[in-house]
Amino acid sequence: MSAETVRFWLDGAERRGPAGVPVGFVLYAQGERILGWNEATGAPRGLYCGIGHCFECRLTIDGVRDQRACLVPLAAEMQLTRQAPPPALTFQEVP
Ligand code: FES
Repeated sequence: MSAETVRFWLDGAERRGPAGVPVGFVLYAQGERILGWNEATGAPRGLYCGIGHCFECRLTIDGVRDQRACLVPLAAEMQLTRQAPPPALTFQEVP
């Protein structure tokens, strides 16, 4: 029995993939290796452990930040967004 193919979105681009398969693996199979960027260094992040331990695969899924892509099953019309690192902090001298 094969999984139903559903439509989903990655950074606003339409995609199709098998429902029920963790989104991180669907994206990996489609050639996506970068799922975000390290908040401190800006280095790319992606699938690493594949079992929910390392948090390197975090995406915003349907508006909820920091969802582990290796654990969340793909569903129809899902909105997946890679999380950019936050802007660098700037400090001002206190007068
Ligand atoms: S790849 Fe490690 S938590 Fe998802």
